Amino acid sequence: MMFPYDQLQQIGYTHPLHPTLTHLPVGLILGAFLFFLVSFFSKKSTLRQTAVHCIVLAVIALPVVAGLGIMDWLHFYKGSWLFPIKMKIGLAAILFVFLIAAIYSGLTKESPRTGTGLWYLICVVLVIGLGFFGGELVYGPSQTEAAPEKTTVLAEKGSGLFRENCSMCHFTDKSERKVGPGLKGIFDKEDLPVSGQEVTEANVRKQILTPYENMPSFKGKLTEKEIEAILAYLKTL
Ligand code: HEC
Repeated sequence: MMFPYDQLQQIGYTHPLHPTLTHLPVGLILGAFLFFLVSFFSKKSTLRQTAVHCIVLAVIALPVVAGLGIMDWLHFYKGSWLFPIKMKIGLAAILFVFLIAAIYSGLTKESPRTGTGLWYLICVVLVIGLGFFGGELVYGPSQTEAAPEKTTVLAEKGSGLFRENCSMCHFTDKSERKVGPGLKGIFDKEDLPVSGQEVTEANVRKQILTPYENMPSFKGKLTEKEIEAILAYLKTL
């Protein structure tokens, strides 16, 4: 746990920060494109200016929203280099460059040009791409959420810990892959889904503490008690 997530949790806010604010630059960029279109067809130069102003605000908002995204990523995904994350960082960097180009083009051209409109359109496409990979990250290939069933006190605690630490990458109600393999019925199986090692408490604990490359390690992040609880929960799946 770290700032500001600790403090937010105390007032009951446990969600990521990036998705709530990301609509700000998204809306500004879509708005800029629409204002540009209207100014292009109606030849109203004030609207062309409005479009440029929207993009200027988007340029200011983008680093803030991207910064929050990186904080969320470090906190909720433990800084793991997942494919959608790589795409989002790349697209955000390209978007920044195109926003600057759009401002430059919007300010220097006398009347609305198709060229300027093209910059705006590219920005819109990049924003849609960013939203798409955000969706991939949060919902995975399928959109269903995990629902715990049988419970004991320890498993109940484990369920909460799993939701905070593991559920963004693992389904609990099916074996399909989200980011990592689905963990339904994991302790009823003989072999672990990826490594093929025998399913034992020791091997699952090893995966949590010293995992394969694509899963972040929870060494120093989960206490022995918490790992016990997660194991108890996994057995109920
Ligand atoms: C950032 C995504 C991510 C998080 C968070 C995550 N995992 Fe994983 N997990 C993976 C991936 C990816 C794999 C597949 C192994 C690989 O390719 O590294 C995996 C594999 C596993 C496996 C199967 C290992 C094997 O040997 O087949 C288990 C069990 C597992 N994770 C449990 C957990 C538990 C419990 C947590 C929470 C404490 C957790 N994971 C958190 C991504 C994640």
